[in-house]
Amino acid sequence: MSSTDLSRRRFCAGACHAASGIALASVVSACKGGDSPTSPNNPGVTLGVSQGRFTNGNVDVTVAGTALNNVGGAVLVESVAGVFLVSRTADTTFSAIDAVCSHQSCTVTNADGDVYVCPCHGSRYDRTGRVVKGPAMASLRRFNTSFTNGVVTIAL
Ligand code: FES
Repeated sequence: MSSTDLSRRRFCAGACHAASGIALASVVSACKGGDSPTSPNNPGVTLGVSQGRFTNGNVDVTVAGTALNNVGGAVLVESVAGVFLVSRTADTTFSAIDAVCSHQSCTVTNADGDVYVCPCHGSRYDRTGRVVKGPAMASLRRFNTSFTNGVVTIAL
């Protein structure tokens, strides 16, 4: 190996190191910038979490022992098929919407009364997934539900 090869290798290694440093600085800068999560003025309260069971292409959620026991109650459902916001709208009816915020994909984990609140930038959605307050502009996807023997089934 010639001294020219070594010099070229050192130059390339140095250039790569500098480039990765610049890239890292960009990431750190982006994290400090306006796109980073900020606390909304009124973040509401964190919803309880229920585990959903992925079964036959649907997600089943047991109501007993959760906030869904009562009309008006809501929970965040985690499952291998995704995360959902589920609320009880009447004795035998429920609402289920995608819990991934349409703004920058944070999980919507909070509620302020009947309004879901994204903890990242404060977007608010009603229980049908419609945007009540931005910065999100697109509604959350809504899913059909059924209720049998104490289990809410979210039809995917
Ligand atoms: S990710 Fe920005 S408001 Fe939800």
